[in-house]
Amino acid sequence: MSKFLFIQTLGCAMNVRDSEHIIAELQKSADYKLTDDLTKADLILINTCSVREKPVHKLFSEIGAFEKAKKSGAKIGVLGCTASHLGAEIFKRAPYVDFVLGARNTSKIVAALNSPKFISTDINYDDSEYAFGDFRSSPYKAYVNIMIGCDKKCTYCIVPQTRGDEISIPLNLILKEVEKAATNGAKEIFLLGQNVNNYGKRFSNSHKKVDFSDLLNEISQVNGVERIRFTSPHPLHMDDKFLDVFVNNNKICKSMHMPLQSGSTKILKDMKRGYTKEWFLNRALKLRNICPEVCISTDIIVAYPGESNDDFEDTMDVINQVKFEQIFSFKFSPRPLTPAANLIPIEDNIASMRLKMLQDRHTQILDEIMLKQNGKKFEVYFEELRENNQVAGRTFSNFSVLVKGSEELLGKILEVEIIEPKRMVLYGKVIS
Ligand code: 5AD
Ligand code: SF4
Repeated sequence: MSKFLFIQTLGCAMNVRDSEHIIAELQKSADYKLTDDLTKADLILINTCSVREKPVHKLFSEIGAFEKAKKSGAKIGVLGCTASHLGAEIFKRAPYVDFVLGARNTSKIVAALNSPKFISTDINYDDSEYAFGDFRSSPYKAYVNIMIGCDKKCTYCIVPQTRGDEISIPLNLILKEVEKAATNGAKEIFLLGQNVNNYGKRFSNSHKKVDFSDLLNEISQVNGVERIRFTSPHPLHMDDKFLDVFVNNNKICKSMHMPLQSGSTKILKDMKRGYTKEWFLNRALKLRNICPEVCISTDIIVAYPGESNDDFEDTMDVINQVKFEQIFSFKFSPRPLTPAANLIPIEDNIASMRLKMLQDRHTQILDEIMLKQNGKKFEVYFEELRENNQVAGRTFSNFSVLVKGSEELLGKILEVEIIEPKRMVLYGKVIS
């Protein structure tokens, strides 16, 4: 008889892929069916994020609610970065939790399910060559991990404590996965890692020397692959070879995530980011110059301890010069076990004011960008049905597009003319 699995995924795309791996592993061992109905589930999983404080607080209220609503005998497992970070404390604070499995231990999910109070949060565990089972939530776009962990030492970031050292997945395993996904109809391959453009620095076993640019070129030659995206690259490793491959390989989508964090060279140094304001501007403006259609997104932390008004003005200056199409912005959140955790925090009202100024300015820039798309024609890859007979897709450069239509558009790349640009989405009509 089928069992029902309820799984909630918080955090980043790496977590989305980890959840797919977990579902695949569970389906290898028993007939699990996914359900959105918590009360029906035999197994309830929450795949957590610990990058900021808020989601961690949310975890305990959430699993408390799961415990109240679940059917008798159903198990609850806590997975992901907060599992790595809090470990056995989760059992103390929520004794009804059945197992705790860290972000670097996903391949042990079946063992976790079968042993009472199982806990594994080893951040040195290496499953970089483990062959996970197959499960994909979308047939159109395939997430593919290319590395695990992170070797950087950004002072604000908890990820090295939750996902361990950086290890690359061997090229032949990545290519096999890409070939399988493309054969099954995924025209888009989305490569994932904490620092993707540092790919190939270290493998578990000896392998031929290969870097991220080589990897991109290899993947672009796989039959059926039409679009390649990746996240996250690090601005420090954006050398000319990488930018050249990015621009000239016509399978690589022209959207680049460039996590700035701060525009102030002093704050960047305090954060141990490894680049200056000038280096970042040089890379971003060179990219705009050699690839005019590119969409650039970024992550910014405001009010890092010690950030003065002038430092913040530097961040605003970079925004004004680069004109990012998308910004993910956050107030600094002190994380345990990180070097920045003990620094003197900036007052919250100042932090909120800076965040608002930044977001307001970005909104103005975005409105100008979106307005300019009116009447333009784009190749759109349709991936999702929405309400009111609308179908959603993305342009090669990553604008979100909605058109009227039905499921027959799904999985197709079609030419669309933009007829009504809005702040977050471009409304268009299919023209061929
Ligand atoms: N406080 C606020 N934002 C953070 N990020 C990472 N750590 C913190 C923190 N301690 C942000 C960074 C990163 C994104 C995934 O989350 O901008 O790029
Ligand atoms: Fe992803 Fe970082 Fe959150 Fe872990 S802590 S889920 S790596 S964003």
